[in-house]
This record gives sequence, C-alpha cells and structure tokens, in this order.
Amino acid sequence: MQLKVLALPGDGIGTEVTAEGLRVLRHVAAKYGHELVLTEGLLGGIAIHKTGTPYPAETEKLALEADATVMGAFGLPEFDNAPPDKRPEKGLLGIRKTLGVYANLRPVRAYEALLDSSPLKNHLLAGVDMIIVRELTGGLYYGTPRGITGEGEEERGTNTMTYTRGEIKRITRMAFNLAGKRKKKVTSVDKSNVLETSQLWRKVVVEVAPEFPAVKLEHMLVDNCAMQLVLKPAQFDIVLMENMFGDILSDEGSVIAGSIGMLPSASIGAQRASGAWVGLYEPVHGSAPDIAGQGIANPLGAIGSIAAMLEYSFGLVEEAAAVNAAMEAVLNAGVTTRDLKGNATTEQVGKAVCEAIG
Ligand code: IPM
Ligand code: MG
Repeated sequence: MQLKVLALPGDGIGTEVTAEGLRVLRHVAAKYGHELVLTEGLLGGIAIHKTGTPYPAETEKLALEADATVMGAFGLPEFDNAPPDKRPEKGLLGIRKTLGVYANLRPVRAYEALLDSSPLKNHLLAGVDMIIVRELTGGLYYGTPRGITGEGEEERGTNTMTYTRGEIKRITRMAFNLAGKRKKKVTSVDKSNVLETSQLWRKVVVEVAPEFPAVKLEHMLVDNCAMQLVLKPAQFDIVLMENMFGDILSDEGSVIAGSIGMLPSASIGAQRASGAWVGLYEPVHGSAPDIAGQGIANPLGAIGSIAAMLEYSFGLVEEAAAVNAAMEAVLNAGVTTRDLKGNATTEQVGKAVCEAIG
C-alpha cells in the first residue's frame, strides 16, 4: 500500500519526537512492504520565523494532498505576547479547520509498567481505558464575534461559544460508533445547568442515541467530570465533549497515564471514497521549550500517534497493533525517558520500539 504522509514537526520538542515517530513509521513500512511517500512542511513558530506566517499556503496545499498528516508540537516563548493571529498555535487551528477534522480522539489508558509514575493511587488506575472524544473545529476556539474592543475600564474581550445541531450530531455519531466497538458506554459532558450551547448539546445527543441501541448513554456536568476523572477514572469508556472542555480535561487525563508525553491523538473528519479517514495525528503534549534540544523528551505520544494513523487513515490494524505492542514491551523493559523516571534518550526509546517490532 502507498502511504502518502506529510510531516509537520513544528517547534521545541516537536522536531525530536516527530523524528522518532517517523523512524517507527519507516521501520513499519519496510517490514510490512508499504511504500512510504513522505513530505515535510512548516507550521507554527518555525513557519513564522521562515515565512512570516504560522500557516503558509504551501503547507495548506501539502496537507490537502496527503492522505495523513503527522505533527509534533507548536508554540515558542518568543511569541508569548503576540496577538492570537500571529501565534504559532494559529497554524494548528488553521490546519485542523482546513482538513475538517472535527473529531479529536485522545485515548487515555493506564499501562501496567507506569502505574507508579502516576500521582494517583494504583488501585484507582486498574482497568482505565477511555477515549476522550473532543469536538475540534467548533465552539469557543472558532466562534465569532471575537476580539478585544473599547478602551480603559470598558476595554472588553469577547469569545463566542456556538454549536449547530449538525456539528453536534456528527461528533455524537463518531462517539457512539467508537463505543459500539468497545465497552459500549458514552459519557456526554456538558454544562447544561448554565449554558445554552450545552442544553442544545444534550438535546441532540439524546436524539442521536437511539440510533445505537447497544450503547448506554449518561450525561455528566463538566465540573463533576473533572472530579470523577481522578476519583474513579475506570468508570469511563467514551467521554464526549465540546472543544474547550476536551482541551482541559484531556490534560487532566494525562496524569492517569503517568505523563502527558504518553498521550497520542488522532483527529479525523471526512471520509475519502476509499473509506480512509482524512487524518491529523499529534501527541497531546506541547512544545516544552524548557527541555527542547536535550534529547530527553518522551516520544511515545508521537509514536502512539503513528499507530493511530496506521489504523484510522490506512486501515492497517495489524501494523498499528504491532506498534502498540512494541511500545508496551519497551515500557515493560524500562526503556523510558526522564518524565517516567527512566534515563533513556528520545532516540533510544524510538530505536527500542523499532527493535521490539522486529
Ligand atoms: C491541544 C493544544 C492546542 C489546543 C493548543 C496548542 C492550540 O493545547 O491540542 O490540546 O488548545 O487545542
Ligand atoms: Mg491542550
């Protein structure tokens, strides 16, 4: 099979972890006889430095041509005080919108070898295996009106949280479809005791649910969900929520996995005629400028994102399983980076995963 992949390593540790993700991808392609057509592009802070904009037109073109895009991380401290439009993050929001990847899947699971790396008590972690399904192209991140207007005491910042029935329906169907293949439970998270967007969210989720009679639906308010995630994380299967709630709660979920460096993510949306999902794959962690360039970043979130790409964009379930099993073997062997109390380098972990794949 031909795998047409665009890589956007981005900023900070993004380049280091993406290099290991691509090492694993090359290894898998060679082992299973796939032809890898890899291009590289600019997005984020590095794109601002080299082209003046976080999301160059050339990158947009490359992304539309590729079957799948893998990304590193975005954000550099020199842009901390720049307006939203001139920040590296704008590139990320732009490409998500261009590709129409409205569903962001963030799996959170407890690895046996990492139970002690989590600040949560071991007994709470047993059996944790959930996917946070975050709506990715709507809500506060994109809603208008937005901006800062006025002056003095009347200077005002505005953002708009808005969702249409159609946007809620498609992400709800995605969540229920996933749940049907797993533990058959969807927890829909909202703030319907206060927000109209959440009231519509809940109404539409309830309307869609009967299409999936085998899946159980429950609702949870977002503040309670933040508490339940650390109180009783094993209760969750698919946790469905809007964009900003998902941004916040997925960082919280990362403490369950022991390190945010462990979390992969897949952003999917439109389905091609071939049945493949147009996809964007990135670790959940940020660019971590404080440790960039030292070769100590954990590449497993990036490598797990490669596994997700093989599965969702190319339907290569066996190859994806091989990568996931190799990651687990490497964890069990104790080849881990500093965030997991090990002393391996980023590169050593990537090479160990390739070796474990065989
Ligand atoms: C994430 C990140 C991004 C987001 C930032 C970098 C724009 O935090 O993917 O979770 O908020 O979506
Ligand atoms: Mg985030």
